[in-house]
Amino acid sequence: MIKDNFGRPVLNLRISVTQRCSMRCPYCHREGQETKAEDSAIEMDTTEIIRIAKVAIELDIRKIKITGGEPLQRDDILDIVEGIAKLQGLQDLSMTTNGTFLASMAKDLKIRGLMRVNVSLPTLKEDVYRGLMGGSLTDVLEGIHASVNAGLYPVKINMVVLADVNENEVYDMIKFARESNALLQLIELEPINLSQTYYRQHHYPLDKIEAELTSHALRIEVRPNMQNRRIYHLTDGRVEVIHPTENTEFCAHCTRLRVTSDGKLKPCLMANDNLIDVLTLLRKGGTDEELRKLFTVTCRRREPYYKKGAIQVT
Ligand code: 5AD
Ligand code: SF4
Repeated sequence: MIKDNFGRPVLNLRISVTQRCSMRCPYCHREGQETKAEDSAIEMDTTEIIRIAKVAIELDIRKIKITGGEPLQRDDILDIVEGIAKLQGLQDLSMTTNGTFLASMAKDLKIRGLMRVNVSLPTLKEDVYRGLMGGSLTDVLEGIHASVNAGLYPVKINMVVLADVNENEVYDMIKFARESNALLQLIELEPINLSQTYYRQHHYPLDKIEAELTSHALRIEVRPNMQNRRIYHLTDGRVEVIHPTENTEFCAHCTRLRVTSDGKLKPCLMANDNLIDVLTLLRKGGTDEELRKLFTVTCRRREPYYKKGAIQVT
């Protein structure tokens, strides 16, 4: 197992397979990648993605999430899923998606080896959804049901909480998730790849919601290898809270590494000055051993972004 210089084991890999997305969410952090779809014509191909996943698994990074952009916009997404799913030693294979194409694809994704799915859904109001993201809420709701029915488990709903947009919908969303057999994650807006004005207008600190949930909770669970996130178990559902901003505890327990869609290893969501290009090596015919070395170097570059005694304000 690789540990970074701060003693944090690296256990999860988030592979962005494209920057393309049919939605236009104004808050989209693009997984911290600086290049937008239009500037980033370079995408790793199927084989390159699977090879990176294989080497990661050999280094004990056995939990893989496919992200984007929107992964389902890739024509070869089922082959990518199948290729990773067949790798020996894989523990978990999931995908984050906006859900638009899930209704028709959930079954095939499951058959090809996807285990679970996270669907981005900030609102249950058709007009708010259309205004915010530019897509159809009905498609996404059908996608969530299709995923549950296909046996993708768990289906998680990612709700980024935004001031003046959806902060009043948290309890409706808890109910919706329970009734849909899905799990809700509330995500605090992170100041990545968005304007300061948008952040100032729409950042909604989750402390208030967490205090409320704490007072109602039957039990609070802590996920140690997942940034010490809290899961609040309520009488009528459960909700996980992702609250990273200025949270030293969150960073101290981060076990993730990322790959950008153009093939760079990325030690931290928040930082862009420490990426390591692996695609060039792959395209030059580099060996697995050389690739493993680059993984190790990247892991050594990992640093908690928010550190005790040195809170950074962005
Ligand atoms: N802050 C927090 N979460 C975000 N997401 C997208 N942009 C942001 C942001 N600026 C969410 C998406 C997706 C998840 C991976 O991250 O909704 O579900
Ligand atoms: Fe970004 Fe996801 Fe919205 Fe697409 S659906 S714009 S990837 S947050």
